[in-house]
Amino acid sequence: MAEKILVIGAGQMGAGIAQTAIVSGFTVYLTDALVSQRERGQQGIETRLSRLMDKGKITAEEKNHALDQLIVIDSLRGVSQVDLVIEAVVEQESVKRELFRDADQWFGAETIFASNTSSIAVTL
Ligand SMILES: NC(=O)c1ccc[n+]([C@@H]2O[C@H](COP(=O)([O-])OP(=O)(O)OC[C@H]3O[C@@H](n4cnc5c(N)ncnc54)[C@H](O)[C@@H]3O)[C@@H](O)[C@H]2O)c1
Repeated sequence: MAEKILVIGAGQMGAGIAQTAIVSGFTVYLTDALVSQRERGQQGIETRLSRLMDKGKITAEEKNHALDQLIVIDSLRGVSQVDLVIEAVVEQESVKRELFRDADQWFGAETIFASNTSSIAVTL
């Protein structure tokens, strides 16, 4: 089972994926090309987890534990190895291709790459 996940893109989908994963006990590295989006993504996760806590869906301990599992990074240099890479960047094939090319050089053959694309064919 994957334990360390890298989520690339901290927009609507990436932040949501990261949130689900940290609440489920995974360690998540979250990155984005824009610092404003990294900050916004992290802030959004904190706000939503606080709301879940206020509603009694998670405890304060669970919220804090989940947030401890979130590591926001500004580049892949901040990550040594992950089990799973999920890209959730803009829906542009050239951007996604370049990103996977970079990640392919950075991570070992055992790392699984996944795309959150809504419309681009991922078969070769
Ligand atoms: N929003 C939805 O309802 C939805 C549903 C299913 C799938 N998707 C897919 O998920 C993906 C993300 O969608 P979204 O709605 O979260 O978009 P978004 O615009 O909210 O977020 C995209 C993020 O990608 C970042 N980004 C762009 N280029 C980058 C790069 N080279 N490296 C790192 N970060 C980069 C942007 O700064 C932005 O924060 C898209 O492929 C989209 O088609 C979206």
